[in-house]
Amino acid sequence: MAPNTPSVVTKRTVTFINNQTPAAITESQLDLDSVGDYDIIVKIEAAALNSIDVVIHENANPHLVSSSPKAYGRDFSGVIIRRGDKVNPKWQVGDEINGLFNHLFGDQGSLSNYLVFNPDKQTGITHIPKSEEDKKDKFIRAAAWPIVFNTAYSVLFKYGQTLGPYSRVLVIGASTTVANAFIQMAKKQLNVGTVVGVCNSDSVEYNKSMGFDYLVSYNQEGTIPENVAKLMEQKKIGKFDLIFDSVGNSDFFPVMDDFLKPKSENSYYLTLVGDQSFEYDSYNFSAFLSGPIRFLNPWRKYRYAKVFGLPTKEGMDLATRMIELGNYNPPIDTIFKFEQFQEAIYRLKSNKAKGKVIISMSD
Ligand SMILES: NC(=O)c1ccc[n+]([C@@H]2O[C@H](COP(=O)([O-])OP(=O)(O)OC[C@H]3O[C@@H](n4cnc5c(N)ncnc54)[C@H](OP(=O)(O)O)[C@@H]3O)[C@@H](O)[C@H]2O)c1
Repeated sequence: MAPNTPSVVTKRTVTFINNQTPAAITESQLDLDSVGDYDIIVKIEAAALNSIDVVIHENANPHLVSSSPKAYGRDFSGVIIRRGDKVNPKWQVGDEINGLFNHLFGDQGSLSNYLVFNPDKQTGITHIPKSEEDKKDKFIRAAAWPIVFNTAYSVLFKYGQTLGPYSRVLVIGASTTVANAFIQMAKKQLNVGTVVGVCNSDSVEYNKSMGFDYLVSYNQEGTIPENVAKLMEQKKIGKFDLIFDSVGNSDFFPVMDDFLKPKSENSYYLTLVGDQSFEYDSYNFSAFLSGPIRFLNPWRKYRYAKVFGLPTKEGMDLATRMIELGNYNPPIDTIFKFEQFQEAIYRLKSNKAKGKVIISMSD
């Protein structure tokens, strides 16, 4: 810090108390010169909203949670401005980093101007690749991918499947940001042969440009399975190795045998959400339970799992490598200033975003 610059700064964080209180900025004092031995202090440059942030807020029942402020935000990018004496030397002052700050009802989150944490305890943190150095929007881009990329990584790599040029995949919810990371990884890293997506008719061209081979609109005449079946017949596409539901859907369960290869061929149905798409303002607990119930059903004839995309070092490393090679481009929907956090939350809740909703901390 420059001489005479006070080491005590005001830390500003978007927080909530419970689902009866709105999100608001709370302030506290942070002494930059009293960093713990194992901690780093990161000046946040950008953060991304994820639906998990809003889900946690909207389900914080006042009878079940404390009355202290709980922070918003997980995905972040920023610069290390202080480090404790015992911090791993790979983290130095001046380093530009990004990642997923993992917490549940914590008092710190990424919608803040500072984060203080022990980097050994946060596995989803990495350095922004050198290839991004000269990009003006490098912090925006870096905040945009940790959760979505790691979630797509889990779908592609954590369920014992080996997908490649002969594989066929159906993605329900092709326009979600997780599906966007999925298609870039499936095509550019694994060379998956055929990927069919389901999306709004208005989003077909966008998703084609992202790498989907074929798109079926969910808002055309007929049911989604009928229209996927028609496409399979027209284009001579065989049954799928993987059906990946990234929005919450139950249309294929009664007709699974017609679409998914048998279990013996290592096929899988994976969902991020469960049987129904997520409606923020009318949260349906049975929708949340549908995944576990289906998973536990002893009569189920297909492999099924609800994915929890926690960050892994391999996922973070793969994203970084793909970015360096120009093979992964995280999509950005909108960028808001810190004070506009409520508009950013509304944009996320619209369920219309194409890419990440970002909060930029710089003016
Ligand atoms: N389990 C986990 O670890 C995990 C991690 C991350 C996210 N998630 C969940 O996964 C879902 C996707 O997250 P995200 O952040 O990638 O979403 P997102 O980017 O916010 O998805 C927005 C897109 O979803 C599409 N969409 C909305 N309703 C749809 C419907 N009924 N059918 C098909 N597409 C629909 C819209 O595109 P169209 O123009 O095509 O309608 C919209 O552009 C969310 O429910 C989120 O909570 C789970």
